[in-house]
Amino acid sequence: MTTKSNPCGEAILKERASIPEKKIVSKEKLPKKEREPVEKAKEALKKAINPYSNFSVGAVLASEEGFYRGANREQSDYDTSACAERVLLHDVDLNPKGGDILGITTETPDGKPNPKITTPCGICRQVIADRASEIRGSIKILLGNGRLDRFWSTQISHLLPYPLDRESFKKGLRANKDKLRSWRSFDGETQELIKEARRIIDYAGDPKGSKSTIKEGAAVLTENSGMKLGASNKHIAAIRDGATSVAINALNTNTKTPFTITKVVSVTKHEKDFNVNRIFPLSGKARQIIFEQAEKGGSDPEIIMASYGFEKIFSSRITNLLPQAFGHNQI
Ligand code: THU
Repeated sequence: MTTKSNPCGEAILKERASIPEKKIVSKEKLPKKEREPVEKAKEALKKAINPYSNFSVGAVLASEEGFYRGANREQSDYDTSACAERVLLHDVDLNPKGGDILGITTETPDGKPNPKITTPCGICRQVIADRASEIRGSIKILLGNGRLDRFWSTQISHLLPYPLDRESFKKGLRANKDKLRSWRSFDGETQELIKEARRIIDYAGDPKGSKSTIKEGAAVLTENSGMKLGASNKHIAAIRDGATSVAINALNTNTKTPFTITKVVSVTKHEKDFNVNRIFPLSGKARQIIFEQAEKGGSDPEIIMASYGFEKIFSSRITNLLPQAFGHNQI
């Protein structure tokens, strides 16, 4: 199999991932109600525990009942660290009628107000989207730079489109028919890649059987190190890894130099189900892992999500599936 390069360099990726200047508003243009949670987030970030990154993040949810605060907390193994948003959201009841506002702001590692606006990472977007799905609503997010003079007002439905949430867990990825592609619209090389991802799905699973029954197979294509396969491994007592992250981690293990991802395929299937034509969307975490690798290798990879039966195939780019992603460009 030959690998075709992705026509995208580091500069294009950066441009696609950044917040468009015309969307940024000044303090004066923002109603007090929306500004307040971000102002309070500036106080909340003082509680950050961040010995590894020294980067402080504060998050405040303004709800009918008042303000809830969170700051990032880092652990020795980093993996189990929690961002400010998750520290906050795991323990909050969202208003089922909507109207809650999540305000976020940051301070740079030298303890200064961050001149840049930073956005929630993919894992936090997953948590926010899931919580929004519980109340069947969207959540307004107000991001402020550390100086509180530049803001971006957005929605979780924008930050994590086509989310893996309660509804898609049951019904599959929600996309209009015109967003789906037919099997025949892909070239032979890509068809091979999709088939490989489906083949590897048989390696997914938990020998003891678990309640989480989505199986995933992934194929990741890179410019300089070829293809790598991965299967979701559901050793669920406490931990699960998605197939794309298994594949990307395998690539990272076997190459010393950064590699450039050109395509990522995820094929999914429900274990105890005969409907093989639902797509279970990539989680926010999987998208974050792909984005960070894309940032390292300087590409905007094509992301293909396919149902096991190949009747439904959705294709996009990581910058569309994780818009304005949090990455090194923001720290
Ligand atoms: N962080 C957050 O708390 N929220 C975000 O949205 C992005 C990142 C934290 C995680 C880690 O402690 C530090 O910022 C550097 O990534």
